Amino acid sequence: MPPPPPTDRLTFHEMELLDLDDMAELFADPLVMRHYDHPFSRDESRAWVEWGQRLYREHGHGLWLLRLRMSGELVGDCGLTPQEVDGETSIEVGYHVRSTLQGNGYATGAAEACRTYAASELGLRRLIAIIKPANAASQRVAEKIGLPLERATRDRHDNEVLVFSGDPSASNT
Ligand SMILES: CC(C)(COP(=O)(O)OP(=O)(O)OC[C@H]1O[C@@H](n2cnc3c(N)ncnc32)[C@H](O)[C@@H]1OP(=O)(O)O)[C@@H](O)C(=O)NCCC(=O)NCCS
Repeated sequence: MPPPPPTDRLTFHEMELLDLDDMAELFADPLVMRHYDHPFSRDESRAWVEWGQRLYREHGHGLWLLRLRMSGELVGDCGLTPQEVDGETSIEVGYHVRSTLQGNGYATGAAEACRTYAASELGLRRLIAIIKPANAASQRVAEKIGLPLERATRDRHDNEVLVFSGDPSASNT
């Protein structure tokens, strides 16, 4: 399946190993990775790109690369991946934005496009975001695209997480 269509400011692309330099720079940034255990090494970023490619093959969707429509500059990634929480697999919307470009509404715009895609292309009636309690910016993005807080639980590494969820086909206005 093709990635979501462009928004007014962003384009979506399938990740390729040719993008590894860009992705490695994104995931080596301690600010982008502040809610993860550690910034990624180049090998971990390569594994991330390969995971993305596996998801495209097996599910037709995954995390897509985001670029500025005007210049082609890398913004980050955003997309739809299967995630298991409390024994149930749901599709999660996820996003990472380069620290120099945060605060411009890019994650919200991209996540909104993925919400629309989840409803119209995948026919989903449930979309989730699994977010650490301290990650207020990510929680705000989830709420803004119509995914309110559902519950607190623990992930497979026994970390406390918050599950935000909603029906992506519901009106978000
Ligand atoms: C989460 C993230 C993708 C948001 O990207 P972004 O492009 O800056 O997001 P937007 O500009 O679309 O919106 C951010 C919203 O969060 C708010 N926000 C930002 N920092 C915040 C904070 N510390 N506390 C509360 N709200 C915050 C912004 O004000 C904005 O809300 P508003 O429009 O109502 O003012 C970005 O911060 C990021 O890449 N973080 C690191 C990676 C990450 O944690 N990804 C999510 C994993 S679950």
